[in-house]
Amino acid sequence: MSSTRSKVIVPHLLERKSSSELLTMVTAYDSTFASIVDEAGIDLILVGDSVATVMQGQKTTLGVSMDHMEYHVQMVASAKPKALIVGDMPFGSYQASVRDAVTNAVRLVKAGAEIVKLEGGVHVREAIEAIVRADIPVMGHIGLTPQSYHRMGGNKVQGRTEGDQTGSRDRILLDARAVEEAGVCAFVIEAVPATLATEITAAAVVPTIGIGAGVNCDGQVLVLHDLLGLSERTFTFAKAYSNLRQLSIAAVSDYVSDVHNGRFPDATHSF
Ligand code: KIV
Repeated sequence: MSSTRSKVIVPHLLERKSSSELLTMVTAYDSTFASIVDEAGIDLILVGDSVATVMQGQKTTLGVSMDHMEYHVQMVASAKPKALIVGDMPFGSYQASVRDAVTNAVRLVKAGAEIVKLEGGVHVREAIEAIVRADIPVMGHIGLTPQSYHRMGGNKVQGRTEGDQTGSRDRILLDARAVEEAGVCAFVIEAVPATLATEITAAAVVPTIGIGAGVNCDGQVLVLHDLLGLSERTFTFAKAYSNLRQLSIAAVSDYVSDVHNGRFPDATHSF
């Protein structure tokens, strides 16, 4: 599929808001998986800071550095995918100052990202505006924002409470408006009630991409390792379309057994 379809470009995102074809995004952190998801016809590859929990064995995403993200964006970009490459801005790369935000967004673009993504709403408005002014497309991320792990008290569904507290339904509506006004070209809505995501999507001019946000967003995103059944973890919102962890264990144990029993390498795998 990859060789025949044309390159997905940023202006396509807005076009897809009014089309019936929903956007699809998955994570990838290296060239092999980038080429696999691209061949499958995905629209956007997210080089997510979930690399921390998925690949680095960490409990949260907070420890990922700009150097790590730059490296993984380079790996994905080396696959030259037709899908758009979204580079996640890690915790600490945009919180301290607008200047940091722009400098680090530029680093990700130089590494091969075509859009950068950052988490938050009202409180990251200036960072988004500054990156957009630097001519770098930005994807927002509202609702459950994993970089707010400690404030949220864990990765918990957001938007279930009333009032103006961070994480409340009303505040998430304000967050959606803030990121859109700041100039994002799309935004992720993570782990909020489907009714709230539906309301946000109906009001937004740019596409929304949901994860744990119901069926009415303009697109969906999953972590690839969850989708492929490679993870040990399971989540209510993540569907495993394969069972690669069990298949991989079986394949490697077959290899171990073949080596132990002298069945590998055989004549066809020898010179
Ligand atoms: O880092 C990531 O994988 C993400 C998705 C969960 C949206 O931000």
